[in-house]
Amino acid sequence: MPVTPFRLERYFAKHEFSARYLLSASDCESLGMAELLQMAAPASRALWDSLNLAYTESPGHPLLRAEVAKLYERIAPDQVLIAVPEEAIYIAMRSLLSPGDHVVVLSPAYQSLAEIARFMDCSVTPWMLEPTAAGWKLDLGQLEQSLTAQTRLLVLNFPNNPTGYLPARAEFDAIISFARKHQLAIFADEMYRLLESDGALQLPSVADVYERGIALSGLSKSFALPGLRIGWLASQDRQLIERCLEFKDYTTICNSAPAEILGIIALQNTVQIVQRNREIIRANIAIAEQFFNKHRNRVSWVSPKAGSVAFPRWLGTQPVEQFCQSVLEEQATLIVPGNMFDFPGNYFRVGLGRKNFGEVLEHLDEYFAAHK
Ligand SMILES: Cc1ncc(COP(=O)(O)O)c(C=O)c1O
Repeated sequence: MPVTPFRLERYFAKHEFSARYLLSASDCESLGMAELLQMAAPASRALWDSLNLAYTESPGHPLLRAEVAKLYERIAPDQVLIAVPEEAIYIAMRSLLSPGDHVVVLSPAYQSLAEIARFMDCSVTPWMLEPTAAGWKLDLGQLEQSLTAQTRLLVLNFPNNPTGYLPARAEFDAIISFARKHQLAIFADEMYRLLESDGALQLPSVADVYERGIALSGLSKSFALPGLRIGWLASQDRQLIERCLEFKDYTTICNSAPAEILGIIALQNTVQIVQRNREIIRANIAIAEQFFNKHRNRVSWVSPKAGSVAFPRWLGTQPVEQFCQSVLEEQATLIVPGNMFDFPGNYFRVGLGRKNFGEVLEHLDEYFAAHK
C-alpha cells in the first residue's frame, strides 16, 4: 500500500516554526543543555567530557539500557532496545506483523500507531474512546466485537495522546486478561507514562505485566528532551527484541553518541525531571480550567487524568478546522484540530506542558473577544 502522509506531522512541519504561539504542543517545556549537564553526577559528566564521536553499540549504550531497565520491575538491560521513538514504532510493527494480520488500535491515536500496519497490508480496526460528560470512556465490549480469527495485535496508548485518557487499574487488568485469553500481542505506547495527575493513578508498564507485551517509551515527552531523539522498546520477550534489533540495521543502525550520554544523565535524574514537568502541567491545568470555564459556551473542557495533552470540544458554529485556521491567521497561534487524528465531532488538542501556556491562552481570549 502507498505511504499516506502523516497529517499531524505535516501540519506541524508547515506551521510550528512560523506560528508565534503553540497551543497544541504535546511535549513539556524542553530542558536546556546547560540545565541537563548541571544535573550530571561526576561519572556521567566524565563520560560526556571524554566522548568520542564514533559509531555506538547497536542495541544502545549498556549504561543507558541499564538506566532504562530501572524504570521497570521485570525488565533486564538486555530486554531493552534503544531507538528513536518514532523509529521504534516502525521497527516494532515490522517485527510483530505480517501482511493480512488484523490489528486493533486504541483511537484517537498518534497516526503511525495504526498507519504502519496499513502500509504492511494489515487490516486495522480502531477501538474508539468515547466522550461522555464525565470524561473519556473505553468499552471493552467494542474490543471483543472487533476480534477476528486474524487479530494478532492490540495497540494501546496510555496515557492517551490526544485525550489524556488513562483507564482505572481494574480496566487495564481486564484488557491484559483479554489479550492473554485471545493470545494477542500488545504494543503499548507509554510515551506519556509518569505524567499522571495523581501518582496513585499510575498503571504498571505492559512490559512488566504481560509476557507478550512490548512497551515504547522515551525522553521526548515525560522527560522534556524531544531533541535528543532517544526512546526505547522493552519486552520480556527477548526474541522479539532481537527481531527489532535486526530491523534497526535497516533504519539507523545505532544511536547518536552524544544523545545517549545525555540520555543517561536524564534517566539518572528521573525523579527531579518528571516532578518538574508534572508541576508545569498541574499549574497549566488549573489555568485551563479557569479559562475554559469562562468560555464554557464555546469549549467543553475535561481535564486529562494523565499526560501533557487534552482534547476539548469546540462548541462554536463553524467547524473546528475553520476555527483553528482563523486563530492561526488572526493570533499567530497554532491549534491542532481533531481531524488530524481522524476524530470527528469538532475536538481540538491542547498541550499543557509549556511554560507560556497562560500567555498563549491570552491570545485565544483576544480572539474570542473579537468574535462575540
Ligand atoms: C503517542 C506518541 N507516540 C510516539 C511519538 C513519537 O515520539 P517522537 O516524536 O519523539 O519520535 C509521539 C510524538 O508526538 C506520540 O505522541
